[in-house]
Amino acid sequence: MHSEFGADDPDIAMMLRLQRKLEELERRLNKREAEISQLKRRLNEREEQLQMLQREVETLENQCLTLVEESKRQIKQLQLLLSLTAGINSSLELRSVLSNILSAAEEITGAEASSILLVSDTGELVFEVVTGESGGVLKRVSLRLGEGIAGYVAETGKPIIVDDVTKDKRHKRGVDEVTGFKTRNLLAVPLRLNDKVIGVIEVVNKRGEESFDEADLKDLMLLAELSAIAIDKARKHEALQELFISSIRALAAALDARDPYTHGHSERVTQFTLAIAEELGMDEESKKRLELSALLHDIGKVGVEDAVLKKPGKLTEEEYELMKTHPEKGYHILRLVRQLEPHLPGVRYHHEHFDGSGYPLGLKGDEIPLDARIIAVADVFDALTSNRPYRDAYKPEDAIKMMHSEVGKHFDPKVFDAFMRAYEKGKIKPHGS
Ligand SMILES: [Fe+2]
Repeated sequence: MHSEFGADDPDIAMMLRLQRKLEELERRLNKREAEISQLKRRLNEREEQLQMLQREVETLENQCLTLVEESKRQIKQLQLLLSLTAGINSSLELRSVLSNILSAAEEITGAEASSILLVSDTGELVFEVVTGESGGVLKRVSLRLGEGIAGYVAETGKPIIVDDVTKDKRHKRGVDEVTGFKTRNLLAVPLRLNDKVIGVIEVVNKRGEESFDEADLKDLMLLAELSAIAIDKARKHEALQELFISSIRALAAALDARDPYTHGHSERVTQFTLAIAEELGMDEESKKRLELSALLHDIGKVGVEDAVLKKPGKLTEEEYELMKTHPEKGYHILRLVRQLEPHLPGVRYHHEHFDGSGYPLGLKGDEIPLDARIIAVADVFDALTSNRPYRDAYKPEDAIKMMHSEVGKHFDPKVFDAFMRAYEKGKIKPHGS
C-alpha cells in the first residue's frame, strides 16, 4: 500500500524539487544582492571620485578666474604706469619730474600723501618734494642714513611696508610733529640707479582703512625703477643748463668788463628784469627765458669798436648810429645757436619804444615782444643810476621821475607799473645801493 506521504508521492517529490529550486533561487538572489551591493559600493566610490574631481575642477576654475583678474589688474596697472611714466618724462625740470613721480606713486598705490627723499652730496637724506599740505615744511627736514624708516630703506636698499607706524620703533615721530600730518601706515621703496641707492619714495596712509600690500609694493618698485632714470636725466639736464647759464654769465661779464662804466650792467638788468617779471606774474619757464635774454641783451656790443664803446664823452651822431647797431648785431650772433632762439626777441628789440620811435625796426606797442619791453625798463633804470664818463649817476628817485615822463612813449605802461611795484617792495636795488 502506498503511504500517503511516501517519497514516491509525486506531490512530495514536487515540493522537494520546488524547495530545492527555491533554495537555489535564494542563493542566486543572495549572490545578486552581494553583487549589487558591491556595485553600489563601487558606484559610491566613483561618485566620491567624481565629486573630488568636480571640486578640483572648481578650484582650478577659481584659480583661473583669479589669474585672469590678476592679469587684468596687472595690465591695468602697467597701462597706468606707462601713462604715468610718460607724464614723468614730459619734463626735464627736476622739480616737476619729482612732483610728477609723487602724483604717479599716489595714484598707483592709492595713498593719501607721499614724499621723495634724495641722498645729498653729504650722504644725508633730504626731503626734496612732498605732496599735500605739509609740502613747504617737510623740505627742511633731513635724515641721516639709517635714521627713520626712509633712512633704513636707503641704507639697506630694501623696500618696506609698515602697517602701523606707532608700533615701529624706526618711525621718526619728529617728522609728523613738524608737519602736523598723522602717518598711520606707509610703504617705502628705494630709488636705485646702477645699484646705488639715490633716494627713497615713501607713500603714506592707504586710502580706506586697510594697509599697503605686496601688489602695491611691486607696483611702486617698478615705478621707482623708471623714476630713478627720469631723476638722473633731469639732474644731468640741470647740470648742463647750469653750465650753459654760467657760460653765458661769464660771456656777459666779459662784455661788461670791456667798459668800466658798464661793469655789472648785465647782471643788474637781469635782476631788475626778473623782479618785474615776478610782479607781472610770469611763469617759471618765461622767467628762465627772460634771465638769459637779459644777460645777453647787449651782447651785440662785442661788434662795436672800443673807440665808440669806451668813448669818454658824448657820442657824435655817426658814432651813435654805430652804437645803435648792437641789438641787430646781437641778434645775428645769437641766431647761429639754435638753443638761444627763445632769447632773440629780448636781445633784438630791447631798444624799441612803445610808441614806435625806437630801433632797429620801429615796432610799436604789442608788436614789441613782452620780454623786450621788460628789459627796456630794466636797462634804462640801470643806465640812469650808473655813472657815465660825462655825468654822475642819477639818484633812483630822480631816475624814476625821468622815466615816468616816458611811460606810454618809451615804456609799456603795464610793465612800468610792475617795475614801480617791484621797486617799492625793495626788489630793485640800483647800482651802488
Ligand atoms: Fe642795449
